[in-house]
Amino acid sequence: ALITMRQLLDHAAENDYALPAFNVNNLEYIQAVMRAADATDSPVILQASRGARSYAGDAFLRHLILGAAEEYPHIPVCLHLDHGDQPSTCISAITNGFTSVMMDGSLLADGKSIASYEYNVDVTAEVVKIAHAAGVSVEGELGCLGNLETGAGEKEDGHGFEGKLTREELLTDPDQALDFVSKTGVDALAVAIGTSHGAYKFTRAPDGDILSIETIAKIHAKLPNTHLVMHGSSSVPQDLQDLFTEYGGEMKQTWGVPVAEIQKAIPLGVRKVNIDTDLRLAMTGTIRKNFKEKPENFDPRTYLKPATARMQEVCRERFEAFRTAGKA
Ligand code: G3H
Ligand code: 13P
Ligand code: ZN
Repeated sequence: ALITMRQLLDHAAENDYALPAFNVNNLEYIQAVMRAADATDSPVILQASRGARSYAGDAFLRHLILGAAEEYPHIPVCLHLDHGDQPSTCISAITNGFTSVMMDGSLLADGKSIASYEYNVDVTAEVVKIAHAAGVSVEGELGCLGNLETGAGEKEDGHGFEGKLTREELLTDPDQALDFVSKTGVDALAVAIGTSHGAYKFTRAPDGDILSIETIAKIHAKLPNTHLVMHGSSSVPQDLQDLFTEYGGEMKQTWGVPVAEIQKAIPLGVRKVNIDTDLRLAMTGTIRKNFKEKPENFDPRTYLKPATARMQEVCRERFEAFRTAGKA
């Protein structure tokens, strides 16, 4: 059976580690995460976005994940909805067997406009009430993910807003975080600290001016018992950028969130670290390489197998770096 996110994050807090939460879309992603978890004895959060749900279909996702739990009965697994855009999306996830949901009320349901604080509190509290009655955990989000270099706030599609946001607008306010958690009762809180989704997070190796671990420290001081979540936390490692570009992929040089910065955030209450882009790059880069090196092959297993193995390697590195390893 699947377990809730709350159970996993409570255990992580008691033992001072964090869990990577990997976005999954199909069989190969799930195999990659589960094989790495099995090899390192790590508990698992598998998360599916609205895009993943419409790509795979809820029934396929549910059965794939139940298959993972059956294949690896000794590994605790949580199925989490990533970025629910409105209460009805969270409710349909709960009905479909998710054991945890994110209500992201930081944007309106159009995915384009920044929501008022009151709206965010209202929709999040509504989801908490329903989810908790069903034994399901809830993650909320406070603050606007975005780029402190450019002042671009992030819309749901990963593109920036028109106009510049200030540093204050782009970082979660610690006092507001305290109020938000007490009004909504969320199990975990996603915070804005200068990270954004996708490959293009920073145009240089980030320092405190553009990646604010200090903001996490301030929030943790106000909310020492709240599990914090980092979104947009792929590291976009150079070797994966090189793998992708060496075999014809087009991507300009970029920087992600260094693993060492994430490690600094773990003693400051970060318990869940969202990773999607790194797995996308691992899979696509490896497939490109195999197409180039073995143009005669047309059995998909010949390139999906190494692609899955490369994703598995990323998962293993994160389980070890976040001290998830050995905690299953
Ligand atoms: O929040 C963004 C995640 O990377 C999921 O992306 O909506 O394209 O599946 P997606
Ligand atoms: P990345 O794009 O950095 O992998 O972020 C994923 C994420 O935050 C999913 O919610
Ligand atoms: Zn996210």
